[in-house]
Amino acid sequence: MSPLPPPPPDWRLLGFSLLVGSFCFALESAAQGNSATDALNVLLIIVDDLRPSLGCYGDKLVRSPNIDQLASHSILFQNAFAQQAVCAPSRVSFLTGRRPDTTRLYDFNSYWRVHSGNFSTIPQYFKENGYVTMSVGKVFHPGISSNHSDDSPYSWSFPPYHPSSEKYENTKEFQKLYPLENITLAPDPQVPDGLPPVAYNPWMDIREREDVQALNISVPYGPIPVDFQRKIRQSYFASVSYLDTQVGHLLSALDDLHLTSNTIIAFTSDHGWALGEHGEWAKYSNFDITTRVPLMFYVPGKTTPLPGAGKKLFPYQDPFDSTSESMDPGGHVTDLVELVSLFPTLAGLAGLQVPPWCPIPSFHVELCREGQNLQRHLQLHDLEEDPHFLGNPRESIAYSQYPRPADSPQWNSDKPSLKDIKIMGYSIRTIDYRYTVWVGFNPAEFLANFSDIHAGELYFVDSDPLQDHNIYNDSQHGDLPHSLKP
Ligand SMILES: *[C@@H]1O[C@H](CO)[C@@H](O)[C@H](O)[C@H]1NC(C)=O
Ligand SMILES: *[C@@H]1O[C@H](CO)[C@@H](O)[C@H](O)[C@H]1NC(C)=O
Ligand SMILES: *[C@@H]1O[C@H](CO)[C@@H](O)[C@H](O)[C@H]1NC(C)=O
Ligand SMILES: *[C@@H]1O[C@H](CO)[C@@H](O)[C@H](O)[C@H]1NC(C)=O
Repeated sequence: MSPLPPPPPDWRLLGFSLLVGSFCFALESAAQGNSATDALNVLLIIVDDLRPSLGCYGDKLVRSPNIDQLASHSILFQNAFAQQAVCAPSRVSFLTGRRPDTTRLYDFNSYWRVHSGNFSTIPQYFKENGYVTMSVGKVFHPGISSNHSDDSPYSWSFPPYHPSSEKYENTKEFQKLYPLENITLAPDPQVPDGLPPVAYNPWMDIREREDVQALNISVPYGPIPVDFQRKIRQSYFASVSYLDTQVGHLLSALDDLHLTSNTIIAFTSDHGWALGEHGEWAKYSNFDITTRVPLMFYVPGKTTPLPGAGKKLFPYQDPFDSTSESMDPGGHVTDLVELVSLFPTLAGLAGLQVPPWCPIPSFHVELCREGQNLQRHLQLHDLEEDPHFLGNPRESIAYSQYPRPADSPQWNSDKPSLKDIKIMGYSIRTIDYRYTVWVGFNPAEFLANFSDIHAGELYFVDSDPLQDHNIYNDSQHGDLPHSLKP
């Protein structure tokens, strides 16, 4: 990646994104320059498909020194969750600050402005408040879901820029960081016994690859041979380290431009990714491994002291340098938070008015929010008065959902089109448990029928952190699911 171009005088928001390797990591960011002296720029980095396999999230294998360095100067959210574990629905959700049931996007095939409501977006809101907004790479999911234009002209001051990524497809040097013999397997590679079939996704994408087809793996549950599992995991971790170097170059360039003292940096991903956990190799589920995402905020002078004159906050870190010291993490928040909170949080951090809570329904309201302002969790100053912050149990709950076309895994279970959706899995994640009900869903009316329960899942975090022992049907806990019902 080449360094950022020097900012024009009124440069206020830059979006940046990058696709990496076969796993298509996208790094996207939005930064803002300022004309008012105390206005802050915003750089939003959105990585595609990145689960928190990062040093700063406790991963002992993965080399991510640049992201770890960012974390050391940021507040990091340990328990952040996407609202749906697939690109377009997740991105449209957090970029508009609305849940998938409001954007009505569960697949890739509609544009919310004409399909559900003319909802404002994060960059649009900043643009309307005097910021210059720019997008590089995959910010919105390309295609119909952003009207083949990354939601231009509404969201962006300039046409979004998509750097070519093909030339990186065969970049293999980062695999050297992960010798195959050092690659661990998923701790729980079996499809769990008590998992309802509707909860399982058959990871059809990876099966389309020629090298995977040659393995003659049975559909839908057949395991991938162990040696090949190691190769997939190696490639994923190599992609993370490559991505990390790009983040390193980006932040180092920001430093060189003297912008770290007036730029908020947010770093996240659209959803996670299963690398063999529960016998799965994709996103497309309600398991934490696919809904949990990295999330951190750097706020100049607040999450970390400003560096002394001539000192860089984000000097480039080489992941191949095994002598480099690991970074002390910055502040950590364990409360459960949701990506839908990104919109109000970035608005609040930048000093813009935080959009009001959405009424129900809110299809007619262009600007409102369904997520919390996380500034309180960041323990920063200047908190707005917000009654929803205090004493509200929703504060520590994250909701996710996933649609299915049938009760058993089939060819389109990973990515059903809207018209084929027959079941919706709604998840509540608290600090203690995940509870999911799979209920009948009418795609013409967008209606879930909570009295038509197809299956349920219940996992307690303490006794079963990896979610392998579904106790929904245990007589012992027979009454619990009903009492937890939303
Ligand atoms: C949708 O919102 C945009 C941005 O505010 C506005 O320009 C456009 O006219 C709106 N469209 C409709 C149909 O209301
Ligand atoms: C979507 O893009 C088409 C083609 O550029 C344009 O005519 C249409 O107005 C756009 N839709 C909205 C809602 O802006
Ligand atoms: C692989 O594992 C060995 C044994 O634990 C260790 O000495 C070596 O540093 C590891 N290699 C890498 C690249 O991490
Ligand atoms: C593929 O596996 C099936 C059983 O799952 C077996 O019947 C078939 O012979 C295998 N084909 C090849 C080419 O190995």
